[in-house]
Amino acid sequence: MAFFKRQHTPQVDMEHLPRHVAIIMDGNGRWAKRRGLPRTAGHASGAETFRRIATYAKNIGLDYLTVYAFSTENWKRPREEVEAIMKLLEKYLCEAVESMARDRIKMAFFGDLSPLSPRLQALCRETEEISKGYEGFQANICLNYGGRDEIVRAARAYAADCLEGRADPNHLTEADFGAYMFSRGVPDPDLVIRPSGEVRISNFLLWQSAYAEFYFTDVLWPDFSEKELLKAIADYQHRSRRYGGV
Ligand code: IPE
Ligand code: IPE
Ligand code: MG
Repeated sequence: MAFFKRQHTPQVDMEHLPRHVAIIMDGNGRWAKRRGLPRTAGHASGAETFRRIATYAKNIGLDYLTVYAFSTENWKRPREEVEAIMKLLEKYLCEAVESMARDRIKMAFFGDLSPLSPRLQALCRETEEISKGYEGFQANICLNYGGRDEIVRAARAYAADCLEGRADPNHLTEADFGAYMFSRGVPDPDLVIRPSGEVRISNFLLWQSAYAEFYFTDVLWPDFSEKELLKAIADYQHRSRRYGGV
């Protein structure tokens, strides 16, 4: 077993990493409030954390990182906050398009992008297109994503295929249905991390996390460090995944 060891660094078996880690990037608003800053400053800081953690996840050898950036419920927030988040996403994606050749991080988007601005939609498509050929690591960004919304969309698309005679409901398997999800082709998450102290799923990856291990921490997302990720992975490595067996 090869161990990654630094002083005070959690011991992680780097040869048995989870393949797919998913993170609910929560706590930006509280992080800002504690500093007397506007909530939007927390979102800006959270975007930097994403950049750092995605690069680190790639470097240590994870295959997939899926992050929850904006939920189908987040439209309920004040218009100014939603606009600020959308602006940050545009800025981040513009920079990503420029730096992609260097970072070689393959990116995909999960969620219904149609209510986003045409510019943001175009940036998402461009990012996916440019990084399509990259191999070895993939970051999935959940944007206007909701787990229930995803399942309902899958059901609709599947029903349409049945009506067209392309599918037969008597032969539907879990794998067939999974192929109608935004996550088609991506293995289920092994580890789902939620920072910020909330202990709930908030409509994230409901279908895919059926057998995920969960890790909760009080750390707020902008403060989430590489060491926090290692702590979560070390904790994960002590779990016994039984999938209903013994
Ligand atoms: C997560 O941080 C970012 C989004 C949901 C877009 P929050 O904005 O929810 O931060 P808190 O939970 O209010 O601290
Ligand atoms: C979940 O965080 C969504 C994202 C991080 C994008 P929320 O802050 O929206 O979740 P609730 O409202 O506390 O459940
Ligand atoms: Mg929150």
